[in-house]
Amino acid sequence: MTPPDGTPPPFEPYRTKVIERIPNPSPAEREAALQRAHFNLFQLRSDEIRVDLLTDSGTGAMSDRQWAALMLGDESYAGSRNYAHFETVVRELTGFPHILPTHQGRAAENLLFSTLCRPGCIVPNNMHFDTTQAHVLHSGGRPVNLAVPEAYDPESEAPFKGDVDLSALKTLLDVEGAERIPLMMVTITNNTGGGQPVSLANLREVSRLLRAEGVPLYLDMCRWAENSYFVREREPGMQDRTIAQIGREFFDLADGATMSAKKDGLVNIGGFVATRDPAVAERLNEAQILFEGFTTYGGLARRDLEAMAEGLVEATDLEYLTHRIAQVRYLADRLTAHGVPLLRPIGGHAVYLDVRRFMAHLAPEDLPGQALVVEIYREGAVRSVEVGSLMFGTSEGGGRSLELVRLAVPRRVYSGAQLAYVADAIGRVYARRREIRGMRYTHRPERLPHFTARFAPALEATPRTG
Ligand code: F0G
Repeated sequence: MTPPDGTPPPFEPYRTKVIERIPNPSPAEREAALQRAHFNLFQLRSDEIRVDLLTDSGTGAMSDRQWAALMLGDESYAGSRNYAHFETVVRELTGFPHILPTHQGRAAENLLFSTLCRPGCIVPNNMHFDTTQAHVLHSGGRPVNLAVPEAYDPESEAPFKGDVDLSALKTLLDVEGAERIPLMMVTITNNTGGGQPVSLANLREVSRLLRAEGVPLYLDMCRWAENSYFVREREPGMQDRTIAQIGREFFDLADGATMSAKKDGLVNIGGFVATRDPAVAERLNEAQILFEGFTTYGGLARRDLEAMAEGLVEATDLEYLTHRIAQVRYLADRLTAHGVPLLRPIGGHAVYLDVRRFMAHLAPEDLPGQALVVEIYREGAVRSVEVGSLMFGTSEGGGRSLELVRLAVPRRVYSGAQLAYVADAIGRVYARRREIRGMRYTHRPERLPHFTARFAPALEATPRTG
């Protein structure tokens, strides 16, 4: 094992005002917790976890300005001034005229897909996230992933592995016909594929192809600020632009967006759906009132809208984003120093372990990703999540698939020392990886199985062929 090189973690551009004690469960307590949770880390209690990298969604720390914003809550049912402020901020950032708040991202997806999709329709995406995939299926449609081939190669260093495969998109439009495709979504950044960015050049072409066929383009914009950071870093001519300007270029190419503000909105709950199309907005509004709440609150307390308005602006701050991306890279560099195989290049919100290389001794039937998240918990009480065949069901896209374990870094929460602790724990797991046994399902639900499935350690390994 190569020792970490001693590089210091990046300087945090904030200081601590409130603290929360974190638990330190003993090895015996961890073992009992695993048994109780049926080896599904979604079923753990937070007091059984030392460092929680399950998700970057809704787990961030709000700023002093956001906490102050909560006190400005105007809890009027209709016409709250917090809605007016929120709407102004989102309009300015995105240029979309119609903004409908929702309680989180999947609620925005519910409104959009139940409004636009019909049974038999096809919805392409660079790569669907689990909830987007589930919503398309729920509305009777077929989700299709169209990411570039290098997105499926964890070792490729391509700078924009979130890009859409343009020739695959052309073929889909030709073969299926635009009338079967009520919309296309592009996810920035591509979470399922490793938090990888989409380039502006690619989105421009996607937009051109779709506009020629009359197919609306919606962005899944959960991590649009992180995507804009990568564009600024990597795309020619973008280095002098602000994050907000780059983001606006993306939105100008699209007809609307869904947002989980639990990510780049820097809030613990909230989201929205936005559109340019007044007829779509009217139908979205009907569905919003039915499922979420009146137009000017959409399932949230009005003070939440105020905190979201502030968070969306803070997410575009270059100093904040520079630290955020550097922190994720620091975790990755320290894991690499231990020899741990990672999906490259490192994405915006998380480090992804490459399960096929990490757990090469196990067959797919041994659920190597699940076995790995369990082992990482056992070693350091660190919670991670499988993002692979377990989360997404059978592999899709011509048999291409990724088998990953994600270490999602909450925004403005953990210190460099805590991330170093995680890397060193995983380094120890890597050193003894060949002793890790597989897992078996004892209960496998049909929809979104990863949340509630139950597992048990496999008694014997599946013999490896080839
Ligand atoms: N789209 C993407 C790309 C996401 O990553 C998520 C959530 C959603 C939509 C749904 O948003 O949770 O607010 O309903 N991702 C979280 C994650 C859960 O852990 O990656 P939501």
